[in-house]
Amino acid sequence: MVRGCWGFKMSSQQLKTYYYAALKYPCPPNLNIWWNMGSMLFLVLGLQIVTGLFLSVNYTNDEVMAVDSVNFIMRDVNYGWAVRSIHMGGASLFFALIYMHIGRGVYYGGYMKNRHLWYSGVTLYLLSMAVGFLGYVLPWGVMSYWGLTVITNMVTVVPGGARVLEWFQGGYVITTLTLKRVFVLHFLLPFVILGVSLVHVLLLHEKGSSNPLGLDLSSFSIPFHPYYTSKDLVGFVFGLGALVALAFTFPKLTADPLQWQIVDKVKTPAVIKPEWYFLYAYAILRSIPHKVGGIILMFFSIFSMALLPMLSSRSKTQSMVICPIAELVFCVWVANFMFLTVVGAQEPAGVWIMAGQIGTFIHLFCVAAMPLTSVAWEALLFSAQE
Ligand code: HEM
Repeated sequence: MVRGCWGFKMSSQQLKTYYYAALKYPCPPNLNIWWNMGSMLFLVLGLQIVTGLFLSVNYTNDEVMAVDSVNFIMRDVNYGWAVRSIHMGGASLFFALIYMHIGRGVYYGGYMKNRHLWYSGVTLYLLSMAVGFLGYVLPWGVMSYWGLTVITNMVTVVPGGARVLEWFQGGYVITTLTLKRVFVLHFLLPFVILGVSLVHVLLLHEKGSSNPLGLDLSSFSIPFHPYYTSKDLVGFVFGLGALVALAFTFPKLTADPLQWQIVDKVKTPAVIKPEWYFLYAYAILRSIPHKVGGIILMFFSIFSMALLPMLSSRSKTQSMVICPIAELVFCVWVANFMFLTVVGAQEPAGVWIMAGQIGTFIHLFCVAAMPLTSVAWEALLFSAQE
């Protein structure tokens, strides 16, 4: 019997099994830079939790005092400005990494190898969206208040939603009670994300990593340590470099200027918009001039990711590298995501309305076309071979 690192006892055989699973996890030898994003997400998640804890000890979740407490953090707390800038920049980096991580999964067909892993990823994305949105509310700037108004009002479209909204708000309107609830959820959910991320990695270890060629390389693997621990460390250096550059050189690059104005509950701003990482979804929400229709379309666009494993269930290979048509559709999908991000930041009037509708159509078309063209191309290749 040996004593494990936290004092619990285990047999040397068990220890070997854990050591093998964690460090000697067999990996394909050809994983490229896009396989660095997962470990970097863990790094940024850890940083967000630590900086968030430091911010929480000085933040006040009260309608009247929230803005002052944020100013206190920026001006009086030792290195408070640094901690807050890292937390703000970290949120942007986290979503940039998540989008690259999802893009990798779509391009190299990671969703085909292990469906449960993919579904756990979709859950992580939804939880991260909730945390990102709730965090935006806390500084209690103009966008915080009006953003919260727009998003929480969405629940009124489901039967009984008005009661749920009243319960969440702590009354008929948004008040200090609502801000307190937002803060509690923003504090708690990152720990839920951490737990689900661990399940995510356990699921990854169940069937192993896919690889850029999309082929079964299980008979030709290399241990995670030292090959990918060293590669992940290089990713950490670049990730931290990007975060420091963003947080200390352009701390307000991604924030809306209106966030520096105190809430005026009677004056609705001309354009209400979320942070850049939600703009694509916001553009889809506004593409239909009908409240319920827009909400359904937005949720469907997000959940459509979960349909990918079903649409490609007949596929034999995983990666798009063997399918030029799917590759082309993938490029259109990525470019359209950026286009929708631009559209989401505009006032919904004139040409931007139609732009949003076209972008929404292209998004949904690509999500369906990517797996289907892969399957069709593959069938063509196999039939030519026979
Ligand atoms: C908090 C957010 C997340 C964390 C911390 C995280 C972490 C990780 C880690 C460490 C890996 C292994 C290394 C790698 O392949 O990059 C991984 C793999 C994977 N993740 Fe995530 N992930 C997150 C979100 C997501 C999301 C949103 C999706 C998709 C919807 C997703 C889908 C996948 C897939 C399919 C793999 C397996 C890749 C392969 O087959 O090799 N993950 N994740």
